[in-house]
Amino acid sequence: MNQIETEIKLKEFYKLIKTYSFQEASEKAGELMKCGSFDGQGKQIIGVLIDIASKFNEDRKHKEAIETVKIINQFKDYIKDKKTENIILNELELAEGRIKLLSKPRFLQVVLTTMCNLDCIMCGLPQAYYVMPDSIKESITGYMPYLESVIWQGGEPLLYKGFKDLFKTAGLYGIEQTVTTNGLLVDEEILEIIENTQGMIHLDISIDGIDEATYAKIRRKGNFNALLKKIDLINKTITKKKSFMLGMQSVVMKSNYKQIDRMVEFAIEKGFSKILFQRLFPSYLAKDEGLNDEENNFAVSKINEYRERFEKQQMIINIDSNIEYVNKESACAEIHKDESQVCEKQIDLSLHDTNKNNDIFCLAPWKRMFIGRENIVMPVCHCDVDGIKVDDVCDLWNGKGMIDFRKRLLEGRLPEQCVTFCKTSGDCFERIRKTGK
Ligand SMILES: C[S@@+](CC[C@H](N)C(=O)[O-])C[C@H]1O[C@@H](n2cnc3c(N)ncnc32)[C@H](O)[C@@H]1O
Ligand code: SF4
Ligand code: SF4
Repeated sequence: MNQIETEIKLKEFYKLIKTYSFQEASEKAGELMKCGSFDGQGKQIIGVLIDIASKFNEDRKHKEAIETVKIINQFKDYIKDKKTENIILNELELAEGRIKLLSKPRFLQVVLTTMCNLDCIMCGLPQAYYVMPDSIKESITGYMPYLESVIWQGGEPLLYKGFKDLFKTAGLYGIEQTVTTNGLLVDEEILEIIENTQGMIHLDISIDGIDEATYAKIRRKGNFNALLKKIDLINKTITKKKSFMLGMQSVVMKSNYKQIDRMVEFAIEKGFSKILFQRLFPSYLAKDEGLNDEENNFAVSKINEYRERFEKQQMIINIDSNIEYVNKESACAEIHKDESQVCEKQIDLSLHDTNKNNDIFCLAPWKRMFIGRENIVMPVCHCDVDGIKVDDVCDLWNGKGMIDFRKRLLEGRLPEQCVTFCKTSGDCFERIRKTGK
């Protein structure tokens, strides 16, 4: 069989799986491997099949995901690396509704320290002293061969003593890394590591005001001109690699919501490739900074206007946001409606049964893990307001926090945050719930 014939056979093979003809697909897999021109295509086929299995899980077609994994296993001789092995096992365990997982976390979000060089008006983190213990650092290093991405967070992550080591080691495993930073401590050494690191690097800089006065008011102890110099240094030092993305993050509040136009112009002018507009987390801090409905809706319409415009012109800048329109009456009714559904689910739902292709509200607890201060572990940083502490840092992934989330989601006993906060917080959280990524 020549190359073109093999391509045609492959297309037919994928179609069989996508249309649930698993028996036929399994027979075809055997035929394909016997083809003379097959060698070298195993890795690519596994990649496509993993995407199909993942998509089945995202569509909550778990039984179909299990069948797809069985077919992937026919190609097991071509699976050479731990990361791919882990992804396959993970999709299978999710599809089977397992609570304790043999697969390792795929996406991590880690608070390295709460220490900070700034004292932003909306952030209480610097008031809680925490430095990630070495035991957790070791666990994270142990996860690295399996990890697809990691977000380094703080406090200010660049203040963590072991940051450069972690950053370099993760680079060796080709992990996609995001550093969320105030940017003021970025130096040539860090930029050099970025320049030499394998895998995609996102440097996300938090900038909540784009003039000296607004920046200094929100980002107390910060210096806007010093920040501008750091941005120039980044642009000068990092060659425009495809594997580097400079992002801007802004918390939208009373002091800056009228600046959205200027923030977008600033980001484009300074070479940022994306902006995330963030909703202000309710907190005892910055009480006067909360937007009223009218201000909130003004901000959302501005952001949406830019999003739509730039979606059409893909090259300019990517705009993301977790702020949504508020309409008090309908928002309350929506939350109420969800709460009553949660109650019904508590009574009705028996244990997870893949035959029912049931509707898991969120896949994050199977794929992601957030490790916060004081051994707090949960799927994503916003999943629980109080946080769930694990006793044993040797097994964060299968500790009380993560197990509890998996169990509750399978049983339909949704934690309160899932409906009261997460469900009303825009597209990026919706994406997390759907895909777990
Ligand atoms: C806690 S900081 C840690 C990383 C780093 N120090 C920084 O400022 O980017 C991570 C992000 O959370 C945002 N943030 C802080 N307090 C917030 C709040 N009350 N509501 C929403 N976002 C907040 C920051 O602006 C920043 O973009
Ligand atoms: S720089 Fe980041 S961690 Fe520090 S106070 Fe501001 S938001 Fe919080
Ligand atoms: S729905 Fe949101 S809050 Fe709930 S587990 Fe998923 S990511 Fe966390």
